Amino acid sequence: MSILRAENLTKRFGGIVAVNNVSMSVERGEIVGIIGPNGAGKTTLFSLISGMEKPDSGRIYLNGEEVTGMKPYHLSRKGLVRTFQIVRPFRSLTVYQNVMAPTTVRRTKPDMGMVENMLKTLGLYEKRDQPTSVLTHGELKKLEVARGLAASPEILLLDEPFGGLTVNEIEQVSTVLKEFIEQRGSLVVIEHRLRELMKIVERVIVMDQGKVIFEGVPGDVPKSEEVVKAYLGSSKVLEGE
Ligand SMILES: Nc1ncnc2c1ncn2[C@@H]1O[C@H](COP(=O)(O)OP(=O)(O)OP(=O)(O)O)[C@@H](O)[C@H]1O
Ligand SMILES: [Mg+2]
Repeated sequence: MSILRAENLTKRFGGIVAVNNVSMSVERGEIVGIIGPNGAGKTTLFSLISGMEKPDSGRIYLNGEEVTGMKPYHLSRKGLVRTFQIVRPFRSLTVYQNVMAPTTVRRTKPDMGMVENMLKTLGLYEKRDQPTSVLTHGELKKLEVARGLAASPEILLLDEPFGGLTVNEIEQVSTVLKEFIEQRGSLVVIEHRLRELMKIVERVIVMDQGKVIFEGVPGDVPKSEEVVKAYLGSSKVLEGE
């Protein structure tokens, strides 16, 4: 049974069909990438799945149970957690307090050893007692990933975790994500840094104008005429950036 299954999701904002009849599923222990030009509907798809927006039509199943319309906090209790493209930490709290805050939502106790190791791998451990106001952009993005993972999700939805990171920081984030997958976690990653994304995902979904226009292994993405057409005129080139 798929851990996550979305069937025929549609979401309109006024005249725009942001998500247009999208179906997708994710297996346990799988990493799925979602790519597509700006405005394709990727973030909106996450908002529907994580309960922040209600779909106009379609259904969402988590571990076989229908969860369509369920509130975000309820979904995180059930093991589905998302992160945000634009990070918004609690500025007055320390790095450590920020990482631990979402763990209160889950009823399971956080694994302190895991959290400590994760902060070390991400290069945030030395700053764990500092307020987040001292963090660089890259450190804030890494903190967002750490917060998601500390909540011990079964499935984590990451919205552009690599945005603005250095190559070294992307390595750090990729390492913690791989460790999560090895422990049978599931991941869905929206990303514009295609070269870096392709290194970690097993399957890619390409969206354009609200629709899924391709689904398959990373190697087949550039072979798809539809995908190439969608990216034409965009600054994002398929071979990298
Ligand atoms: N709350 C909203 N109200 C109105 N329109 C919205 C809203 N959220 C998204 N949209 C519109 O829906 C479409 C899809 O937006 P979305 O943010 O999902 O795209 P995206 O694929 O995540 O893009 P990007 O790569 O730039 O983050 C866009 O046309 C956007 O302007
Ligand atoms: Mg987006």
